[in-house]
Amino acid sequence: MDAQFDRLHEAISASQAYCAAMHACSPTLPPWLHPASVVDRSDLERFAAEMHVGADETFVDFGCGNGAAGLWIAERTGASLIGVDVSRAAIAAAKTIARRRRLSSRSRFIVADAAATGLPGGNADALMSLDVLMFMEPRAAVREMRRLLKPQGIAVMRTVESLAEPFLPTLVRDYRPIFRDEQFTIVHDEHLPDHRGP
Ligand SMILES: C[S@@+](CC[C@H](N)C(=O)[O-])C[C@H]1O[C@@H](n2cnc3c(N)ncnc32)[C@H](O)[C@@H]1O
Repeated sequence: MDAQFDRLHEAISASQAYCAAMHACSPTLPPWLHPASVVDRSDLERFAAEMHVGADETFVDFGCGNGAAGLWIAERTGASLIGVDVSRAAIAAAKTIARRRRLSSRSRFIVADAAATGLPGGNADALMSLDVLMFMEPRAAVREMRRLLKPQGIAVMRTVESLAEPFLPTLVRDYRPIFRDEQFTIVHDEHLPDHRGP
C-alpha cells in the first residue's frame, strides 16, 4: 500500500490535470492547495475552528499527504504543524509547499507510519486527520493519536465508516468505541449519508 500512496503523490505533484480537476470540484480552494481528498475551503475552516489552535500551539496532521491542508491551517491560525505520512513522495511535496508558503520554520514533516510516529508523546495541542484512518489498523492509530496529544488535546477527523462492500480490510463501521476505549470524549460526530443511497 505504501508504494501505491507514493505513486499517487508522485502523480498528484506532476499532474496539472489533477489540480485542475480538484479545483473544478472545489473552486473555493486557493490555487496552490491540491489535497489527495475531496475537500473544500469550508471543510478546512471547520478543521481549523474545531481544533482551536493558535500561535504558540502545535497540531499534528496525521496522514498529511502533500501537507497543503495542514499548511493552509497553519498559515491562517499561526500554529505550528507536524505532518506525518507514510509516503516519501508526499512528504517531499509537503516540504516543497512549506518552503513556497514560507512556513518551513513553523512546520515539520516526517515519513512514518502514523501509528508509530516516534514523536515525543503529550506535546500536541490538537490533531487533524483527513481521510486516512480507514487505511490504518484502527486501534493502533487511535492509540498513537492519544499518545501524541496533551491530556486535553483535541482530535478532529474525517474518515469513511460505511461502504456497502468494504474494500479495505482496515475499515470499521463505527470508530466511536475505539476512541472511547482510548479515553477520548466524543464531543461531536456527524454522519454523511451514503452517496449510493436509494
Ligand atoms: C486520501 S489521502 C489523504 C491525504 C491528506 N490527508 C489530504 O487530505 O490530502 C490518504 C493518505 O494517508 C496516508 N497513509 C495511509 N496509511 C498511512 C499510515 N499508516 N501512516 C501514515 N500515513 C498513511 C497516505 O500516504 C495518503 O497520503
